[in-house]
Amino acid sequence: MSSTDKKVIAVIGATGQQGGGVVRALTTRGHFKVRALSRHPDEHRGLADEVAEADLNRPDTLDAAFASAHGVFLVTNFWAPGTDEVKEATAAVRAAKNAGVKHVIWSTLPNVEAISGGKFNVPHFTGKSKVDRIVKEAGFAHHTFVIAPFYYENLVGALAPQKQADGSWGWALPLDPNLRCIHMGDIRELGDIVAGALAQPDEAGHGEYLPLVGDFLSFNEIVDTLNRQGHKFSFHQVPKDGFPPELADTFGYFEAHTYLGSDWSDRIALANRIAGRQPTTFVAWARANVPIRAA
Ligand SMILES: NC(=O)c1ccc[n+]([C@@H]2O[C@H](COP(=O)([O-])OP(=O)(O)OC[C@H]3O[C@@H](n4cnc5c(N)ncnc54)[C@H](OP(=O)(O)O)[C@@H]3O)[C@@H](O)[C@H]2O)c1
Repeated sequence: MSSTDKKVIAVIGATGQQGGGVVRALTTRGHFKVRALSRHPDEHRGLADEVAEADLNRPDTLDAAFASAHGVFLVTNFWAPGTDEVKEATAAVRAAKNAGVKHVIWSTLPNVEAISGGKFNVPHFTGKSKVDRIVKEAGFAHHTFVIAPFYYENLVGALAPQKQADGSWGWALPLDPNLRCIHMGDIRELGDIVAGALAQPDEAGHGEYLPLVGDFLSFNEIVDTLNRQGHKFSFHQVPKDGFPPELADTFGYFEAHTYLGSDWSDRIALANRIAGRQPTTFVAWARANVPIRAA
């Protein structure tokens, strides 16, 4: 099939971790033409077959961004200042529907409010889950929910080891390190699930939930894995007081319910089948991605 005959997939967040993985997976498989979307398209020329402007806070940009697209991958960035994920996603769903998009893939997270009976307030999870109904009720021919795990990449990024009071490098978090509660994965691999779902809409396009999970670990298991590879990291459990409430509640939720909120083995197995691969385990990812710190 020549590239002009291929259906177009428009990718929000194409310059970021989730959308970047989607662009790479779609490009590698070559079944679709990829339209990378960014607020600053001129800075990312060559990222995909097409690069175009999209700003979820400027709905007027979305009509052209989704024009003639067969599919849309949608992710919102809770952490960008001023983000209202429900508002942004609603604008995108409306524009996708108007553009005649057939398959929308929404990157969601579990509804912590519902799972915990209101005990934990984790808006970056619950806010995303509230978009699920909007995607479902929009009436696309196909829609799929993908779930990003706790990124392995957090451990060398936002949650990298810090120098502790005792001089060691490691983590001081309000989390019981003995509890196996963190569904984790290499976020670059979410794209394999998204590309698989777009290629197999009959199996994955009717509201299936497809989580990326490469490992399910406690923090002690994370630290032990790293230390067996030559690191000397420490972990200190600290009180929740003094932590930003959002983070304290996130860890409280993990402890009480796990990251995914319940046993999702069947959905994890389906996601791996749709992706056509097993995700990378933490031990393999860490060996390649966590450099040994010089003493
Ligand atoms: N870290 C974790 O463990 C974890 C786990 C699960 C879910 N998440 C969720 O992942 C989301 C972030 O995704 P990510 O890690 O892929 O982000 P990222 O790497 O920080 O990149 C952010 C992306 O969002 C795009 N973007 C930001 N504001 C936009 C807007 N107004 N309109 C259009 N595009 C916009 C940026 O594109 P341009 O700058 O090019 O416009 C960029 O591509 C967050 O909502 C977070 O809650 C994180």
